Amino acid sequence: MSNKMKSAHYPKYGPPEVVQIIEVDKPEPKANEVLIKVHATTVSSGEARVRASNFPPLFWLPGRLMLGIFKPRYVLGNEVAGVVEAVGSEVTRFQVGDAVFGGIGSKNGMGAHAEYKCVPEDTPIVKKPESLSFGEAASIPFGMFTAMCFLKHKGDIQAGQQVLINGASGAVGTASVQLAKYYGAEVTGVCSAGNTKLVKSLGADHVIDYKTEDFTQGDKQYDLIFETIGASTYKTAKAVLKPEGKYLAAVFGFGEIVAAIGNSKRVVCAVADENIEDLAFFVELLEKSAIKPVVDRHYPFAEIVEAHRHVDTGRKRGNVVVDVV
Ligand SMILES: NC(=O)c1ccc[n+]([C@@H]2O[C@H](COP(=O)([O-])OP(=O)(O)OC[C@H]3O[C@@H](n4cnc5c(N)ncnc54)[C@H](OP(=O)(O)O)[C@@H]3O)[C@@H](O)[C@H]2O)c1
Repeated sequence: MSNKMKSAHYPKYGPPEVVQIIEVDKPEPKANEVLIKVHATTVSSGEARVRASNFPPLFWLPGRLMLGIFKPRYVLGNEVAGVVEAVGSEVTRFQVGDAVFGGIGSKNGMGAHAEYKCVPEDTPIVKKPESLSFGEAASIPFGMFTAMCFLKHKGDIQAGQQVLINGASGAVGTASVQLAKYYGAEVTGVCSAGNTKLVKSLGADHVIDYKTEDFTQGDKQYDLIFETIGASTYKTAKAVLKPEGKYLAAVFGFGEIVAAIGNSKRVVCAVADENIEDLAFFVELLEKSAIKPVVDRHYPFAEIVEAHRHVDTGRKRGNVVVDVV
């Protein structure tokens, strides 16, 4: 068996064309690691942002310190779905042949844009539901972890609440509409007319077309406003937030940070975390069809640059999957 593999490197920060597929050594698992043969991964908006070093001003330096100050330190690819090909001597959670999926995380160096990846067994990776293809499974973690972090862990979403999701047709938005419905909220999704059908099909009770209507000027008041794409600010959105309501910002600027420091119960700016418990919960929801994957397009691994180009348009619907096998 070859000890080489293909890997999508980006030797410098820049446009999609900086990404090149090269041959590198296939990794070998340490005692606490599993070697995953990657079947599918995604190019998320997060990866496109890292590739381009397109961090908001306040995060530019921390981002570069973490990811490589002069040139990128890691191979991209946080979401992974594949098959365990080898396990280290101390591994107990997985066996060779298990089909798994999850999020690798920057502390493990990401790296799913490659044919193989080794991760410690305590990484947020679980067995893949049989009903999902590898591509569908890879499309779950990015949006769902973010939705769970903001709506449940930070927002304490409750049944019957009025919840608005701005950017309802994106990866985070499509996951958030579904999760908010699962928790029994009355959901308003903000998207363009072309995505109304999709957002309604995910359970949204109401849809606002952002091209013809500004939700911050409406009469309706919300318990939770989840800003998934940075199209609104707290300053304008607070007009439609209930007195005890919360503005949850996955994308935020200086104004939101200042507001969150002033009143952290009202404004939340955060970076979503990934953990095994939440991932196992998503599996439960998938198995009872309470949530479903939303895949915009598939690209073969050889066309990963095209996948980056599509994500860079900012127009994707849900997730962009890269089929490695
Ligand atoms: N804080 C965190 O932990 C965290 C975690 C994950 C992601 N993020 C950030 O969250 C952002 C969103 O990620 P994503 O992957 O969900 O985005 P995405 O999938 O790239 O979003 C694309 C979608 O946004 C819609 N859209 C564009 N402009 C809009 C507007 N003005 N109003 C409403 N919808 C609009 C587009 O629909 P149309 O084509 O119809 O316009 C498209 O369907 C990224 O910036 C990412 O870095 C943050």
